[in-house]
Amino acid sequence: MRTPTAMARRAPHRLRPDTAIGQGQLVTYCPLGWVIVAHFGFPARLAAVSVRRRGALDGADMAPTATPAADGPVFRARGLTKTYRMGEIEVQALRGVDLDLHRGEFVVLLGPSGSGKSTLLNILGGLDVPTSGDVWYEGHHLTHATPRELTRFRRDHVGFVFQFYNLIPSLTARENVAIVTDLAVDPMTPEQALERVDLANRMDHFPAQLSGGEQQRVAIARAIAKRPAVLLCDEPTGALDSATGVRVLEALERVNAELGTTTVVITHNADIARMAHRVLYLGDGRIVREDRPTKRTAARELHW
Ligand SMILES: Nc1ncnc2c1ncn2[C@@H]1O[C@H](COP(=O)(O)OP(=O)(O)OP(=O)(O)O)[C@@H](O)[C@H]1O
Ligand SMILES: [Mg+2]
Repeated sequence: MRTPTAMARRAPHRLRPDTAIGQGQLVTYCPLGWVIVAHFGFPARLAAVSVRRRGALDGADMAPTATPAADGPVFRARGLTKTYRMGEIEVQALRGVDLDLHRGEFVVLLGPSGSGKSTLLNILGGLDVPTSGDVWYEGHHLTHATPRELTRFRRDHVGFVFQFYNLIPSLTARENVAIVTDLAVDPMTPEQALERVDLANRMDHFPAQLSGGEQQRVAIARAIAKRPAVLLCDEPTGALDSATGVRVLEALERVNAELGTTTVVITHNADIARMAHRVLYLGDGRIVREDRPTKRTAARELHW
């Protein structure tokens, strides 16, 4: 496992992971660590994005703790709660979640709408922070990390796949993946990533020229191209029919098996749970049940 510190040494200056830089875009470095990006080809737009300075976001800066052993779980969460406040209204999305996720696991997260699945995934992925409780990633206490450290954590270690693919319409499949490979520390090439999801023959297609399932596989290629330790998927087949969804799940299954990527898949589809090493059921902000299927079913044998 590459440590955040080792990775930082190899990638002294990097852009934020959520920064989209593609062909036809001009990047200019300014003093004080700012970059101006001008986008050509479409209505020109300007965006200012921050660049980090050398070492500023070293994983070593994240508060280490003695709690998890090096060979312990990839993620450890204890007593997670999340309360959203909107004016007078309070919503308790998580009410005390304890969870360990192990290296190479394929975990399916099931539960009714509003049970806190996305909230939990977002906290694990450093997109959100809990109201109370603790999360460790590989010995680093994420709950004590600064926003910059969380950005660094997401960029180096986590791939996200969402229900709607969030591809950039003006970029081809290859360019959509290159956005990430241009920024990552030790990426595979866009071509390798797209081959892994069986899209070798669609590299130069624009999103509008791809089916929904193909677009989702581009999104998976983009998520895995940086070889993340963890792949977090929020309803990746939610917008797809059964046959197309199965192809997407096959891609996830392959990434998990071949790259050993710890994978969490949120779904409303109980059938998908049959391909998991472990199934967690969330209810009203708590894990209410956990199953370990005695025999895993291959994605291609699923149908719903
Ligand atoms: N940003 C937010 N602000 C306020 N309330 C929120 C926010 N995000 C989620 N919630 C609330 O927290 C609860 C849990 O939401 P969450 O999105 O985690 O559920 P979910 O299990 O993913 O549901 P679904 O299956 O519908 O996606 C819900 O009641 C939701 O309305
Ligand atoms: Mg959700």
